[in-house]
Amino acid sequence: HRTVALIVAAGRGERSGSALPKQFATVAGRPMVAHSHAALAGHPAIDHVLVVTGADQVEALEAALGPVPHVAGGATRRLSVLAGLEAIAATGGADRVLIHDAARPFLNADVIDRLLSALDAAPGAVPVLSVPDTVARAVGYALGEVVPREELVRVQTPQAFAFSAILAAHRGWAAEIEPTDDAQLLRAAGGKVVPVMGDIMLEKVTYPGDFAAAEVRAAARFR
Ligand code: C5P
Repeated sequence: HRTVALIVAAGRGERSGSALPKQFATVAGRPMVAHSHAALAGHPAIDHVLVVTGADQVEALEAALGPVPHVAGGATRRLSVLAGLEAIAATGGADRVLIHDAARPFLNADVIDRLLSALDAAPGAVPVLSVPDTVARAVGYALGEVVPREELVRVQTPQAFAFSAILAAHRGWAAEIEPTDDAQLLRAAGGKVVPVMGDIMLEKVTYPGDFAAAEVRAAARFR
């Protein structure tokens, strides 16, 4: 198995309130992208790590990680992932790929192990968590119906795929959805995606307050 990890770090981080795009902002003493990069690069089952970053973000990336393999991303997350997958395809391909958001810094090797094991039975695997809150539809500024939370899961990254299956799903995207993750595309193409247990440490850093929450999680982890 040749297993490649793709980290998408080409976002603008416009909701984060940070001066640097959030993936380069410091969390737990290191640039955010450095945490998950170290976890992926250090995992024994992963052969290669490729970072997707903005054409104008290479300096920030190299300040964070030094010289690492990278390719230029696109205007949406989907286009950034597609650019990364095409770069892998053009340089020897892979059997399996893990696709990960740089905005989820605290990646544990156990999650990677669960995902890769699940790939033996399906072309896709994603980490999921239950929903602790009451969830209701938003109808403009009013509250719509409550959605039973037992029917919901939150889907995180990294997401693991058979490389050929996720590449075909991305290439076949036909504008009916702008996906927020890659498993949606594989499922839309008829590929099975199985859930594995996610990790609260993988919470995404999106809004200004998330940085403080990430520091608290990191303090618990590194104690
Ligand atoms: O914006 P959001 O938090 O959903 O972004 C998830 C991940 O996708 C982030 O790590 C971000 O850097 C990445 N991204 C990207 N290219 C884009 C938009 C987002 O690589 N055009």
